[in-house]
Amino acid sequence: MSDLFSKFDPVIQQRDELLGAGYTDPFSLVMEKVESPTVAICNGKRTILLGTYNYMGMTFDPDVVAAGKQALDDFGSGTTGSRVLNGTYVGHKAVEQALMDFYAMDHAMVFSTGYQANLGVISTIAGKEDYIVLDIDSHASIYDGCALGNAQIVPFRHNDVEALEKRLKRIPEGAGKLVVLEGVYSMLGDVAPLKEMVRISKENGAMVLVDEAHSMGFIGEHGRGVAEAQGVMDDVDFIIGTFSKSVGTVGGFCVSNHPKFEILRLVCRPYVFTASLPPSVVATAATSIRKLMNSADKRAHLWENSKRLHAGLRQLGFTLGTDTPQSAIIAVIMPDLEKGAAMWEALLNEGLYVNLARPPATPANMTLLRCSLCALHTEDQVGEILGMFAAAGRATGCIS
Ligand SMILES: Cc1ncc(COP(=O)(O)O)c(C=O)c1O
Repeated sequence: MSDLFSKFDPVIQQRDELLGAGYTDPFSLVMEKVESPTVAICNGKRTILLGTYNYMGMTFDPDVVAAGKQALDDFGSGTTGSRVLNGTYVGHKAVEQALMDFYAMDHAMVFSTGYQANLGVISTIAGKEDYIVLDIDSHASIYDGCALGNAQIVPFRHNDVEALEKRLKRIPEGAGKLVVLEGVYSMLGDVAPLKEMVRISKENGAMVLVDEAHSMGFIGEHGRGVAEAQGVMDDVDFIIGTFSKSVGTVGGFCVSNHPKFEILRLVCRPYVFTASLPPSVVATAATSIRKLMNSADKRAHLWENSKRLHAGLRQLGFTLGTDTPQSAIIAVIMPDLEKGAAMWEALLNEGLYVNLARPPATPANMTLLRCSLCALHTEDQVGEILGMFAAAGRATGCIS
């Protein structure tokens, strides 16, 4: 019998080597208690959270929590059904209305995760005969959506406007074309040149989908994302987003002004053939989204935090993913996986949690320590974080 698991041997070996060298497994951390959006107890120790994507700190918002508790009392713990059968409650319609109001768009469709939103929308609108032109550093859910729909995939170099144009021009005349972009790329925290890319896509007859997972709530005057910040909202056909970052719960969505959009509810398999989100989740999401509409002060503070951390890390001598802070993600580039694991563990021992990211999730084979700031990190906490980076960096030889 052939062992179907033998294809995982290289990963198993790499993991064994890392653990054999005495490092703590960076992928099995357990949060014993979560005290706030910025502090948890890990290994019995108070730990500052700097890797949770909880950008706007909504997870402990009293109104959000109260809405979830009320929905649990009123509607029970789950819907036990698909949106197209018994799984649409008033709460699902309410969160879709909150999204339409938030984005000032005509249609909103909620999925069980952001992953499923990309999987569902991309695979349904772009089929075998169609072309999907996408940034090579796109999220796994975008690639999986392309694969599920069996579309022709045409990747282009990360954030390269000319490469996008060249690829578009090579697509046969009359073929269906979808350009898929992200507002903020989550590995390095860099922003896409959407203004140019959306213009070029439209000039070449393509529809445009932008995944704003890491920008919703924070970037843009109303927190609508990079498309808003760069003034191209009206030319984007579909915006994909998630509730698992700024919104502070779980779920995914697509918003659009396309006049035929609602048909997706009947033809999109990752929407139809799965259970809908629990009532408590959609209630927390709707409350959170409505509060994010009036969160300009928090957005301003989050920018301050990002700038302060970026400048501080640079001053300490770390190599960062971007020259300037472009989002709430600041990626610290590590020389290799061993040093990355050592630094990750040293930071945890100092009382700081960040994400360790490694290939294949990362571009160009990089090992990264990804920091994601929260609007509720105080100035003192950012100072503490920099102190921890200094101590861990010197202890591991990452900085001198
Ligand atoms: C760009 C991007 N799109 C989609 C997703 C999926 O979101 P979710 O966690 O809601 O499945 C993520 C999550 O990491 C992401 O980074």
